[in-house]
Amino acid sequence: MAAPSPGAEVHADVAEEYTIFCSSDAVRQSLLATRSGALKRAVDGGARLRLHAPGDAPATVAGALDAAAVQAALATGALGRVLVHATRAPSTQDVLRARVRGLPEGAVAVAEAQTAGRGRRGADWASPAGALAFSVLLALPMAAPERLTFVQYVAALAAVEALRASPEWRCVPLRIKWPNDLYVAGKKVGGVLCEASTDGTRFEVVVGVGLNVSNPEPTYCLEAARLAGGGSPGTPMEREAVLAAYLNAFERLYLDFSRSSGFDALLSRYLDAWLHSDQSVCLEANDGRQATIIGLAPNGYIRVRCEDDGELLDLEPDVTSLDLVSGVVREKAIGARIPQPRPPRASAVK
Ligand code: BTN
Repeated sequence: MAAPSPGAEVHADVAEEYTIFCSSDAVRQSLLATRSGALKRAVDGGARLRLHAPGDAPATVAGALDAAAVQAALATGALGRVLVHATRAPSTQDVLRARVRGLPEGAVAVAEAQTAGRGRRGADWASPAGALAFSVLLALPMAAPERLTFVQYVAALAAVEALRASPEWRCVPLRIKWPNDLYVAGKKVGGVLCEASTDGTRFEVVVGVGLNVSNPEPTYCLEAARLAGGGSPGTPMEREAVLAAYLNAFERLYLDFSRSSGFDALLSRYLDAWLHSDQSVCLEANDGRQATIIGLAPNGYIRVRCEDDGELLDLEPDVTSLDLVSGVVREKAIGARIPQPRPPRASAVK
């Protein structure tokens, strides 16, 4: 993956304490060698930000995520190889975007508690004990801004594929509610928030993922769904295993995505993981027309076919809300209309 921008800085609040875990000594040396300045001073000083070498990890606090166990279960080349663990942070998004600058692409921040966790469209995001709250740092080339839309799809798909890859978790019917909510049995158990910025040379995308692993509040959780699906009570889902499986799946998918143009390489997998194939919806802001969801347009918008005349319409993810239960699309804007050639009138059969 691409190298990060140089010049690491630490802007942690005094009350915040971050520990950086490196999966190998080579990763640690590389972090120290390439991240000069503030990060190195903070690491050496060890005040608010500590860097641990493999085998030298601090004893884990009961109930806290065992970051070394996460890294031991990784099969990735980059994702999670540098892992920032925060006992408390405003938001893991902010850890990567502002609190600890200059981490390499693929770095992950995970927090036990977020004091200002956020969801899409300005919503708050709670992460009670048992939940996973983490963010992943990615970089995309400036040349293809249209690809940014798809990163949220890749991130949501990774959660579904991570569970499907495990014989013990396969019984959890996790699905994507477009564009990137994660649902089980009609209840939201997770979500993805992508925030992009640019320095003029590349897009830096921070992919935030919240997953209810074993916290039944405030909605439902993966572990409850696993037990409901016949999973063994003796092998509860651990956050460490879920995070490692997620990062393994995400990196595989992201590499496939990076090697292809558009979303073609992953489209059928995304559609196989979402809830909407052939769903009939009512386009509230479009005279209440009934339409059927048929897939994604090449630009990542959701594509529907109007039931009255077959017209195809595309709806933009960031401004469209889809009420799953009622099947109502309350879109605030409609994407490109795609006029369909009218079929020739059938001649009467004699
Ligand atoms: C949504 O469904 O609205 C997206 C929720 C994303 C929540 C995660 S938790 C980790 C990361 N940090 C945040 O503040 N938000 C994301």
